[in-house]
Amino acid sequence: MAQSKCLLQSQALLQIEVYEIWNCGWEIGRLNGRFSEEIVSISGLSYNPRASSRRLWLPLGDLIKYILQTSVYPREHEQLKALREETRHHRWAGMSVPPDEGRLLSLLLKLMNAKKTIEVGVFTGYSLLTTALALPKDGKITAIDINKSNYETIGRKYAQRAGVEDKIEFIESEALPFLDKLVLELKEDELFDFAFVDADKANYTNYHERLLKLIRVGGVIMYDNTLWGGSVLAPVNSKVDRETDGIIRLNKQLAVDPRIEMSQVCIGDGVTICIRIA
Ligand SMILES: C[S@@+](CC[C@H](N)C(=O)[O-])C[C@H]1O[C@@H](n2cnc3c(N)ncnc32)[C@H](O)[C@@H]1O
Repeated sequence: MAQSKCLLQSQALLQIEVYEIWNCGWEIGRLNGRFSEEIVSISGLSYNPRASSRRLWLPLGDLIKYILQTSVYPREHEQLKALREETRHHRWAGMSVPPDEGRLLSLLLKLMNAKKTIEVGVFTGYSLLTTALALPKDGKITAIDINKSNYETIGRKYAQRAGVEDKIEFIESEALPFLDKLVLELKEDELFDFAFVDADKANYTNYHERLLKLIRVGGVIMYDNTLWGGSVLAPVNSKVDRETDGIIRLNKQLAVDPRIEMSQVCIGDGVTICIRIA
């Protein structure tokens, strides 16, 4: 128990630093108590950041900074950078996919020559624009979000400027009933190549069942936030919120699901990449 608490703390520090990088550029050293508490409450953790050793987390922050500076920012499309800059001022900026994870998403899409994708959870559209830029000219994305306003007011103009807006079909809807509708309507030769899931963590296991019917064999499902700020390390049988519970259930389910091959990657807030094999 003592050991898992210690791990929980170091994961949370990593999370705090990542958010700090996304939201505040390079000012890692200016981590302040108020900001820490916000992140801690997002993660559902309780601990005192000041009680933890700087040594534990500074090298991780330095490495993330190194990756961003060396290989991520030089390759980030100018409209993605502009979108990221504008999103930084949004009160929910931390919801955006971080740019190093965006690189991984883009690479995967190109690696598998994806043409037809589905995204659950758009917000201002960093992952959506990343996808639209990675798909070929005739690529199509079905993007679902319960609230279109952040995309309309912030994200859409960057997709227009990048010349990829025509690849996007935005569905403003609760995700689950829309996925259910697709399951009934989609024909075998209309299945998706790729899905990116980043909304309503409590429903991740429900999305998984639908998406396994909507993605072709050999297609990929990528789940975001599968480390959920380190809160997946909560002791067994401890009381967690419904989103943490949703992520923990998904992680357990994916680990033994014979219909997929998978790998959980420690990037951003944790990403799990699944290939449908059956
Ligand atoms: C973490 S954000 C998505 C971030 C996005 N991938 C990006 O890179 O900016 C989650 C989004 O999911 C949407 N959402 C939350 N619950 C939902 C639900 N039940 N169905 C559809 N969308 C939902 C929210 O409106 C929010 O925009």
